[in-house]
Amino acid sequence: MADLHTLIRDQPEDVLELIAKSMDVRANEPAMRAICARYMGAIPRVNDLRVLEIGCGNGAATAHVLEYVEPRELVGVDPSEAFIRMARERYADRTGIRFEVGDAVDTGEPDASFDLVIAHTVFSHLPDPATALHEAYRVLKPGGRLVVFDGDYATNTVALFAGDPLQTAMEVALRNLAHDPYVMRRLSALAREVGFEVEPLDAHGYVQTTSPDYLLTLLARGVGAGANAGEMGQDLVEGFVSEALARVEAGTFYGAILFLSLGALKPA
Ligand SMILES: C[S@@+](CC[C@H](N)C(=O)[O-])C[C@H]1O[C@@H](n2cnc3c(N)ncnc32)[C@H](O)[C@@H]1O
Repeated sequence: MADLHTLIRDQPEDVLELIAKSMDVRANEPAMRAICARYMGAIPRVNDLRVLEIGCGNGAATAHVLEYVEPRELVGVDPSEAFIRMARERYADRTGIRFEVGDAVDTGEPDASFDLVIAHTVFSHLPDPATALHEAYRVLKPGGRLVVFDGDYATNTVALFAGDPLQTAMEVALRNLAHDPYVMRRLSALAREVGFEVEPLDAHGYVQTTSPDYLLTLLARGVGAGANAGEMGQDLVEGFVSEALARVEAGTFYGAILFLSLGALKPA
């Protein structure tokens, strides 16, 4: 099945609105804020930092980059014209920020022009992560840093017991919302091949029980996309969504994602 994000240019306005809403929900959750504070806050400060954010979407995670990395200048690129329009509107009052339509494999930015390239939950949607790493290497200054953050989505779980039927909804969501749930496991080796000096992966646990807003939108969007792809009918979509909501109501919901961050240096 195809990942909606990988095919972002083909999505209708209502699907883009739902994805944008989901980005905002996730970026604003305390758990994701804490994760961003930790991994972005650990990025060494450089004077007059120039940052390129790959796959910036509607600018939801850009707010964290601005807060925790404090760049002098930030350029955000995303293939979706609609998301770029939303990001431009969101930061219309800020100076030192621009958003451009661009792809991870072809950012349109000059060689050796950034101190930091950052991608927050983007690489799992890329059909060609190796070429995206080459592009990041090209636009980084010598001594510049690449930071890639994404889910190790193959480990996602909402199961309360072995064979829990709700886990099937998560599998449907993964099939339809992530191009490569395993990419973070291969990224260190891929980045080394490109010439980066790669740091150890850092792990960030994300567990939601009482107010699992992002996991609920992920499940609902995922099974909806599964239905659109012909995997099931609307009754089952509604069944999965109401089961998840009933668990939240009963206080029994459990959902977990392991996120990983990778730091890699372009040799000086
Ligand atoms: C899950 S969203 C994350 C957006 C944003 N980084 C955030 O966390 O709020 C994935 C983003 O990757 C973008 N994307 C998809 N294919 C891409 C590509 N080939 N190059 C760059 N970005 C891409 C999508 O348009 C979308 O904005």
